[in-house]
Amino acid sequence: MFCLIYRSVATSSFGQQDIRLMLEKARVKNQKLGITGCLLFYEGEFIQYLEGNQIKVLELYDEIKKDKRHTDIEMISYAQREGREFEKWEMAYEDFFGDNDQITYLRLLISSYFEDVEETSSTHPASLPFWRTVHKLLNAKTKV
Ligand SMILES: Cc1cc2nc3c(=O)[nH]c(=O)nc-3n(C[C@H](O)[C@H](O)[C@H](O)COP(=O)(O)O)c2cc1C
Repeated sequence: MFCLIYRSVATSSFGQQDIRLMLEKARVKNQKLGITGCLLFYEGEFIQYLEGNQIKVLELYDEIKKDKRHTDIEMISYAQREGREFEKWEMAYEDFFGDNDQITYLRLLISSYFEDVEETSSTHPASLPFWRTVHKLLNAKTKV
């Protein structure tokens, strides 16, 4: 299994509703390609974690990079790993548009996840850059 993490900046015209429509198509395609992962959208920025067959993931990443709906695409990391982080998700999605309680909850969840990371072997090292970036993103932009 191969996984790849990148971040990018959404163009201002790519709104919440457009993202949801894009995801509907993306999930169908990801299922066909055997790709799973997670997309986060927070304060105009995307971070996406893709996992699956190496060639398929790299081909999809090439297509995503050409997509005019986002810019400043920056690779965070890629690696080979065993198993999947998001086994049941053709593309999990969170945009943090919920109320602050939700963000607080997510932050707590991720913090506790980080505390567990050192002790458990359940997290594959390859997905750590993803969780680390999510963690940073959430902590850097406190919304109260
Ligand atoms: C932030 C972002 C994430 C995307 N993620 C996926 C994805 O996981 N899977 C996918 O098929 N397309 C994704 N897309 C859309 C692709 O860039 C592209 O439009 C799509 O793969 C084209 O598919 P088609 O040529 O088969 O219609 C994403 C686009 C953006 C802007």
